[in-house]
Amino acid sequence: MLARIFPVFCLVPFFFVLSKIIWGELQDESAFGPDPGKELVLLFGEIAVICLIITLMVSPLRNLFHVRCFPEARRILGLSVFFYATLHFFSYIALLKGLDFKEFVIDLETKTHIFMGFFSYCMLIPLAFTSSDSIMKRLKYRWKILHGLVYLISGSVIIHVFVSVRDSFQFAYFCSFCLGALLLYRILKSMRKLSFF
Ligand code: HEM
Repeated sequence: MLARIFPVFCLVPFFFVLSKIIWGELQDESAFGPDPGKELVLLFGEIAVICLIITLMVSPLRNLFHVRCFPEARRILGLSVFFYATLHFFSYIALLKGLDFKEFVIDLETKTHIFMGFFSYCMLIPLAFTSSDSIMKRLKYRWKILHGLVYLISGSVIIHVFVSVRDSFQFAYFCSFCLGALLLYRILKSMRKLSFF
């Protein structure tokens, strides 16, 4: 049951943003402040990183509560990270760069936060396209190795978020704390498996 309502649950932020845009249009005023393009880019980035944190929480929660529908939930959450990161990327290209890909390439070469964001996004692509059961079975042990990329993605997203910050570091500290703690949990778990302690 939970697995069935999960995709709907993950789309709630999307429909919330969409309804805010439509409401703003109907009211003839911007629902996202004086710089709506930038606000939208930031909002989709924040939703993507929150989905990433929740995805990485699935494994520790499963170990604690032994709930069976968690693998399905993790797949949907993982796809949501890709979905919102794609919206974040496209809103950046469309609203901040006016669909000028040359400007994007210049940003990529000159701005560390754009490079780190794109680096993280590129690593999300193979994970999203190999999330189905059939590909998982075909790739066997290689699937686990490939999906270990999520920890590298977490590290590069932390750098991306920190370098992107303009005003307040609060959200960046929150993301780093959550992702850092989840990475540490994973490292300790692997060390226990290898009988280091
Ligand atoms: C295609 C790659 C990406 C590009 C071009 C990109 C671009 C940007 C830009 C332009 C900003 C705003 C910086 C500013 O304030 O001027 C930003 C911030 C941010 N991005 Fe990305 N990004 C990318 C990938 C990602 C990914 C994969 C994630 C997470 C999964 C992510 C999460 C965030 C977050 C959380 C923020 C900061 C939001 C805040 O400070 O409130 N980005 N990104």
